[in-house]
Amino acid sequence: MITRRQFTRFGAAAAVAAAVQPADSLLADWTHRIQGSSALPGSFGDVAGARSLRAHAWRHGLIFGSAVIVRNVEDDPEFAELIAEQCVIVVPTSELKWVALRPAPDKYDFSRPDFLLAFAQSHRMLMRGHTLCWHNSVPEWIQSPANRPHTRQIFIDHITTVCKHYAGRLHSWDVVNEAILPADGQPGGLRKSFWYEQIGPDYIELAFRTARAADPHARLTYNDYGVEYDSEEDAERRSLILEMLRKLQKNNVPLDAVGIQSHLKAVQHYAFGKGLADYIEAIRQMGLDVYLTELDVNEDDIATNDPAERDAIIARTYTDYLRVALANRAVKLVLTWDLSDRFTWLNNGPTHHRKQPNRPQRSLPFDRNYRPKQAFFALRDSFDRRRR
Ligand code: XIL
Repeated sequence: MITRRQFTRFGAAAAVAAAVQPADSLLADWTHRIQGSSALPGSFGDVAGARSLRAHAWRHGLIFGSAVIVRNVEDDPEFAELIAEQCVIVVPTSELKWVALRPAPDKYDFSRPDFLLAFAQSHRMLMRGHTLCWHNSVPEWIQSPANRPHTRQIFIDHITTVCKHYAGRLHSWDVVNEAILPADGQPGGLRKSFWYEQIGPDYIELAFRTARAADPHARLTYNDYGVEYDSEEDAERRSLILEMLRKLQKNNVPLDAVGIQSHLKAVQHYAFGKGLADYIEAIRQMGLDVYLTELDVNEDDIATNDPAERDAIIARTYTDYLRVALANRAVKLVLTWDLSDRFTWLNNGPTHHRKQPNRPQRSLPFDRNYRPKQAFFALRDSFDRRRR
């Protein structure tokens, strides 16, 4: 087993703080650096090396990064170093959601996401925002009888304030997250969320228009799950999402990219295949980019307890998925949902993802001690196999 120290080519000292740059110019900077990758200065040194996922991704036209719980970057220098070494982009897992940002009607708490943006900029990394609108993060105060009638205005004010706060400094925003749920029986398969019920189905286009007006630079993304497999259920979700996207485009709603969450399962009856490939191609033909936004592998259903065997199955799942997803040039961005098993939401998040609470999941490229696992090499090799 390789130790973390042996693996790391650059210590914290190599992380040279840079002047604050807007997201667009940072992205241009990365492009420029990689094109002349033989003579790279200090903080870009490992772009040319063999050890970082970001280097392997970038050479094949991909931005690689990870979601992080901001507190972990603040508290754990070794983890912060791993993130800076492996990622071009970071996204806070929950710190930009309504419940975290809006403890009270008149209060915005930007402290944690601001910390992450400063960290990203000091390492010349990008940050993306997640998310301006999600059914699962609706503060209780908005739902009070006094505030309910003002939901539309509160929604507009929130998106405006948050987007303006970061204007020009984020790579992209997940503007609307998980708006489709056919089981709710609404027209177009729209989820019966708080926003849907209070504002109406046009809350989606309202969110995109408001975000664009407040930050013309961030790439605006629609993000959803349940589209990855060749199952009937995923096929239905794909066609409903495409229908919704076409409607948005027809109404000239500003939209730049579509996020495929990519929460995969190690044991799954269905394959990754034509359904996913056609979905990505349909999005490409609409002139939109595709981002794989929350990649990880839920391994709860693997029968064996042997870590090496489990790691091999997990790695194969990444490989099988990326073989299909990365074949299309529309895919520009890959983010794992955290980078180390120590912090995966599958061990710490909602309990329906934890069928085996006594067997912590090994879902991510790095183990609990930040050592690369088979999944790391699966990602690296998948990036390398992509045609330039
Ligand atoms: C998750 C976070 O990672 C957890 O910490 C939190 O408890 C619940 O939310 N899809 C999404 C993300 O779009 O926002 C979710 O993040 C994971 C599923």
